[in-house]
Amino acid sequence: MKLSTKTALLLTLVCSLSFASEQFAMSDADRAMYAEMLENNPAEMDIEVGGELFEEYCNGEAGLAKFLGVSESKLPEYIAGFPRYVEKLKMVAGLDQVMQAIMKENGHEPLKLKSGDMFGMLAYAKSLANDVPINIDVNANKHMKEAYALGKEVFETKRGGRGLACLSCHNSAVEGGILRTQPLPNLGKNNAGGTWPAYRMTKSSLRTLQRRFQGCMNNALLAVIPIGSPEMNALEVYVTDMSKGSAIAIPGLKR
Ligand code: HEC
Repeated sequence: MKLSTKTALLLTLVCSLSFASEQFAMSDADRAMYAEMLENNPAEMDIEVGGELFEEYCNGEAGLAKFLGVSESKLPEYIAGFPRYVEKLKMVAGLDQVMQAIMKENGHEPLKLKSGDMFGMLAYAKSLANDVPINIDVNANKHMKEAYALGKEVFETKRGGRGLACLSCHNSAVEGGILRTQPLPNLGKNNAGGTWPAYRMTKSSLRTLQRRFQGCMNNALLAVIPIGSPEMNALEVYVTDMSKGSAIAIPGLKR
């Protein structure tokens, strides 16, 4: 295998650090807290509030099913295929953007995509598909094909002051290694597509997958792409496809 100089450098960095800092990945105290939170995820509260807002603003499951043109009984399977092309919105959209459109239709001021209330509503809506395997179809139509291709490009393009791409840290050659005390996760195996929105212990709050992407962009000095933009939705399509077949389990619990 031929590695670029940057990847090789990063690999050296990761390997040289991995033995020294394995013990720092999670302290015993953190591990105990993690075990406790697995039993009782603090984000359950956000989801409860999200569920109330979902009823109030979107008329609940009936309202969502109606907008999407699916029966209520098919709703969980349909939700497990997001982000998907939504004809009414003429774009590949997240569930949060669908809910914004429903709010508008119902005469409510749509919640901002980045608001905590929207994160809660998104977590609630996605949790309706809990235990359903992710069934995103990146070949469903030309819009999804284009989104997948754009997402792959965003994932692989090196940017920013350090010339890093998502792929620099999330690829099979470096995954499992430790970078600045943090293990580099395999996004597919970690079921990133099925476990966000998640409670992030280091942020003490409920975060969405796109918000998590922004966290990595910040850390790696990549210009931050706005939530809900075509590039960000495309990135979500690409990353979600890595977890295709894994069951949705919301809210996740992350470091
Ligand atoms: C400099 C290395 C680096 C780069 C570049 C990077 N990441 Fe990460 N990423 C990490 C590390 C380390 C973690 C785990 C951190 C932790 O556990 O808190 C992580 C975690 C994640 C997670 C959460 C995984 C889970 O378990 O659910 C996602 C999703 C993610 N990254 C996506 C991205 C995307 C998309 C990009 C490109 C925009 C990117 N990352 C760029 C190092 C990187």
